[in-house]
Amino acid sequence: MNAVVNLKWIEAANYEEMSKLAADMFKAELKHNPKMVLGLATGGTPEGFYKELVEAYQAGEISFEQAQSYNLDEYVGINPTNEASYHYYMDQNLFNHVDMKRENIHVPKGDTADLQAAAAHYDEMIEAAGGVDIQLLGIGINGHIGFNEPGTPFTLGTNVVELTESTRDANKIYFNSIDEVPTYAITMGIQTIMNAKKVVLLISGASKQEAMDRLRSGEVTEDFPASALHNHKDVTVIYTGVK
Ligand code: F6R
Repeated sequence: MNAVVNLKWIEAANYEEMSKLAADMFKAELKHNPKMVLGLATGGTPEGFYKELVEAYQAGEISFEQAQSYNLDEYVGINPTNEASYHYYMDQNLFNHVDMKRENIHVPKGDTADLQAAAAHYDEMIEAAGGVDIQLLGIGINGHIGFNEPGTPFTLGTNVVELTESTRDANKIYFNSIDEVPTYAITMGIQTIMNAKKVVLLISGASKQEAMDRLRSGEVTEDFPASALHNHKDVTVIYTGVK
């Protein structure tokens, strides 16, 4: 079977439409299953997606009261109140504006002494929650998903990773200088991501063209982490500003 046919490709007219289409998928699931387990991502790409969800909540269209969420990743060595942390990003973009209960919000702990134990516990919690219903993903210019950098075995669960220079460079805009960008992160592994029932991958902007081309090629290789998705049975790629 040709792996490429497994991915469903949707071209959006612009960034707003991409964000709306992705939000519609989460909204539909949430309405059908109020106890939905959301798998969430940070970064520039999903900002519009979160805006859509917040607006839908404020309009009374959806509620997160019974839902829970698991974020993909977090930097090691910075705490949730640090403005560059992914936890802070999530508070600003979603959690502070909706009714999800604090105890139902999960972001990997990057500021704990025992990172390995925190990583193993994260996968146990996801499993105990019944698994992620829809996992949102962005993609790095080198094909990373979560913080799974090229060369990561597809078999790994949540784990601690060393960030590549390319990733640290791409993320330095959120810090005062590249020296402040952490060198390690804790991330759901490829296996954790593959366990999600459904995956929505957002790709936006010309800087992602090379990653897009590699994904489209259909080749499955650990050198290009996103290519693992060809082995998942329910992935929708919503893209804009790339061909
Ligand atoms: C974020 C994450 C990363 C980003 C990727 C793209 O939680 O896991 O894989 O999705 O680095 O980032 P942006 O959207 O900023 O281009």
